[in-house]
Formats: sequence, structure tokens, C-alpha cells
Amino acid sequence: RVTRHYKFNIKLQNVTRLCQTKSIVTVNGQFPGPRVIAREGDRLIIKVVNHVQYNVSIHWHGIRQLKSGWADGPAYITQCPIQTGQSYVYNFTVIGQRGTLWWHAHISWLRATLYGPIVILPKRHVPYPFPQPHKEVPIILGDWWKADTEAVINQATQTGLAPNTSDAHTINGLPGPLSNCSAKDTFKLKVKPGKTYMLRLINAALNDEMFFSIANHTLTVVEADAVYVKPFRTNIVLITPGQTTNVLLKTKSKFPKATFAIAARPYATGPAAFDNTTTTGLLEYKTNSSPITNNTKSNKNNKLPLLRPAFPKFNDTVFADSFNKKIRSLANTKFPAKVPKTVDRHFFFTVGLGISTCSKNQSCQGPNNTRVAAAVNNVSFVMPNSALLQAHFFNKSKGVYTTDFPSNPPFKFNYTGTPPRNIMVTSGTKVVVLPFNTSVELVLQDTSIIGAESHPLHLHGFNFFIVGQGIGNFDPKKDPSKFNLVDPPERNTAGVPSGGWVALRFLADNPGVWFMHCHLEVHTSWGLKMAWIVQDGKRRNQKLPPPPSDLPKC
Ligand code: C2O
Ligand code: CU
Repeated sequence: RVTRHYKFNIKLQNVTRLCQTKSIVTVNGQFPGPRVIAREGDRLIIKVVNHVQYNVSIHWHGIRQLKSGWADGPAYITQCPIQTGQSYVYNFTVIGQRGTLWWHAHISWLRATLYGPIVILPKRHVPYPFPQPHKEVPIILGDWWKADTEAVINQATQTGLAPNTSDAHTINGLPGPLSNCSAKDTFKLKVKPGKTYMLRLINAALNDEMFFSIANHTLTVVEADAVYVKPFRTNIVLITPGQTTNVLLKTKSKFPKATFAIAARPYATGPAAFDNTTTTGLLEYKTNSSPITNNTKSNKNNKLPLLRPAFPKFNDTVFADSFNKKIRSLANTKFPAKVPKTVDRHFFFTVGLGISTCSKNQSCQGPNNTRVAAAVNNVSFVMPNSALLQAHFFNKSKGVYTTDFPSNPPFKFNYTGTPPRNIMVTSGTKVVVLPFNTSVELVLQDTSIIGAESHPLHLHGFNFFIVGQGIGNFDPKKDPSKFNLVDPPERNTAGVPSGGWVALRFLADNPGVWFMHCHLEVHTSWGLKMAWIVQDGKRRNQKLPPPPSDLPKC
């Protein structure tokens, strides 16, 4: 058990992509940002210093933050943002997790350029439950915007119109040869024949679920959201924003006479902004026999034919549904699936888009002074001006939040059928309060009030078990009898299928305030978010400790 220190200097850096140079917000001038490495059980102490003119905060996506909620990071939920010239030390221990997670800015749209991998290795001398890979490589899917992303989202929230899409998707920050003048900005993975590589896939794209594939190679999925899964083979991986997936890539036994594209492309089902660009990297075999000089080697590779993978249709919900159903917890004696067997509280949340009236300071461009809003149970979440966790901890909720978040939608309707008449959503800073150790069952139902689409719902502070999923309306009489309580996937981000539902279970054993939101950034901005308050337990070790002294002030 060791303590690892990192320093994140948030600063501007000029970066050139798609023939244009742009000043972007980075950590230590790196894009994508630095890799954070730890072993299970280690303590991480990460000092973030803000040298830019924006407010920032960093979230350690998927880290459970057991009794360290002050280090979770979402702005105005667990902390006030770190203002210009100020700093904050994130201090937390990695408990009971190993695998790939990631960190990203959690304020406005700054995560467009502020993100990087978190690699959690097993404890020393503890092997993986699959063959030890020859090498491990993080692969982060993202996007590149020519425009200033803060301007893009400000315009979208002011007008209620869909924001512009990104100009390219990227693999480890690089668009690849299919994008305008990006041939030199191509991610290359050099491999040897007959070896196993572990790719740590992370979807950091702002608004796009992605298909990922490597031409002529099969991938074996072994882990999702830092939880081991029953290995299964696939040519294509589907990954929503927020999710992480580890896959094993077994290279060909003999040196092949081809170069293979590593490619990613969006999967989209709804009317929201959709960037359909394909990003490609290259999988290149290097001969391990006669050493060749760099020059001749690259010449040789250039002459090899480039093979490209085939993807499903951009809106192939059947593929998406069957892929998601293949993911199962390993659920063996070493790594048991601790699915809550009983339920204390049931919640049914609709997630989707609606319409809200505009406030005075908005220039809404919808009919009758309305704008697009996104909501959970018809409530579009309004960010408070101070942090919820402090308000909760010091018993000062008045004027910050109310505890009347509805457990069910305001009225019943055919969620996936003809749109109901009422497409108006209300707004407020409403939360659900849960006593310590409440066993929660939460059904998330996508609505087609304004077009059905998938929503990657992310819960902070917990892993949940996806005990059921289906297309159409959730049926509370029939569907629960089919729930998988044996080996359901355990994740922190679940794709609510387009025109369908997922059922989740989790044990509220982590006191604090925990954000839950769609990881499509445009939907979060439009209000598809809410928060859970988990109260302290009675025993001393069931309480959230007081905040660190450098916790930022609003
Ligand atoms: Cu990856 Cu609340 O976010
Ligand atoms: Cu969404």
C-alpha cells in the first residue's frame, strides 16, 4: 500500500489539429492528459493548480470514493470549482477496484480537452484472471473541435438549439488519415506477431457512443468499468461516453502482409447532434527477425495494403442490444457479484428530452419562447450556486436544494409510443435522500417525447448492477421475474437503450452527495441530471469525514 503524488497544472497549450492551431486547456500541457497509475489499495494525492481563466474541477470517473466524497469533483455537487490562481488537493484511496477508469474536468464542457486514463493494477503478485498480456495500451476515444467548446455549449443552452458537432473523432488525441490533413496525426500501435496486448478503451467523446474495431482481428472483452467480466469474443466493441472496456488483442502468429486500421465511429439513435466521422489509427506489425533501419521499415509499411474494419449501421439498435447483453460479471468465488438480493426502495425514472419555458436571460428560439430541455421524471435539474455536499454536511440546504425529487414520473403514459400531449418539463434542484445502506432498485426508462435515443447514465460514488434491460415499456409485473441476480454486469455507466429501459440495483453504503447524469454532455447541459444524498450511518466508520481545509469556496 503506497501513496502516489501527482501534480496537475491546469494551463493553456497551443495544439494543432486539422491544419489549425488552437489554444486548449490542458493538464501540464499534455493532450490527452497524463496517465494516473495506482495499485488497488493505494492512496492518490493529486494537487490541481488552476492557471487558466476558467473555473475548473476534476472528477475521477468510476472511483468509488468510499467516504472521500469531498474528492469526487463534480462542480457545484461535491465542491465549488477551483478558481483562477487557486488549487485543491484531491486525496482518496482506491478500494476494491482494479482496471481502467479515467479522469476528466467536471464543469461546463472543459472535459473536451481535459481528460486522461486512470490505470489501476491489481495488488502486487495478484495475477489477472486471464492471460498476462505482453503489453498494455490505453486507447482513449475523443473528439476535436475547431470551435471553442465553451462557446458551443453557451450558445446551445442560451438558445435551446442543438449544439454544433465536433469536427473529428480522435484516438489518443489524433484524428487519423481520414480527416483533413491529419495523416501525420495518426495513432500507431506497433505490435509483434503471436503476442497478447491489452487495450484499455476509454470513451471520452463528449456526445457520441462509439463502435470500436480493428480490421481482421478479434477482440476478447475481459473487463468493463474496472470490473472483470466473463470473457467473450467480438469484432466490434460498443462503448458509451463514460464507459471503459479492456479487451485482449491476440496478434497474428505470423508477420502479415498488411497494415490494419484501428477504427472508431459513432453509434447514434436519436435526433441529437451527431458527428459521423470515423477516426482511424494503425496497427503495424514489426518484424522481430532481421533488424531494418527506420527508414526502410516505414517505406515497407507504407507499401502494405491497409485493411479497414466494417461497422454496423450507425443506428443499429439490434447490435447494441445484443452486445450489451453479452457483458456478464465474472462472478466467481474470487470476484463475486455482490448483487443486492432484496430491495428497500424502488424508483422508476424516465429519461429523455422535453421542452421548458425560458427565463428572462435566455434568447430561446423554440416556439412560444420555449427551449429544448432534458429531464429525469420531468424535472430538468438546475445547478445550484454553491456545492450540494457542503450544504448537506453543514445542514444548510435552504435555498440550495429541496428533497422532493419524485420517485416516479408525474403521470403514466406509453413511454415509447406516440408522444403524450404534455412535453413540458419543470425545473429545480431536487434530490433524493437515502438512509445509509438502503438497497435501491432503479429502473431507467427512455421516453420518446421528442425522439427515442440512448442515454449513457452515469452514477457517481457507486457501481450498480444492471439486473435487467429491454426494449419497449418496462413492465413492472413481468420484467422483474426475469432479472439476473447471478452475474449481471457491474458498472458505473449504463446505456439506457433507445426506446427501452435498464434496471439497476445498488447498495447506498457510501455517505455523501452523488451526482447521476447522462454522459452525453449536451444532455447534461440541458438538465438530464439529478443527485442522491446518502446519509451517514450510525457507526463511526459509516460517516463522511469533514471537508479538507483547502476545499474551494464558491
Ligand atoms: Cu464522467 Cu459525472 O462524470
Ligand atoms: Cu442523454
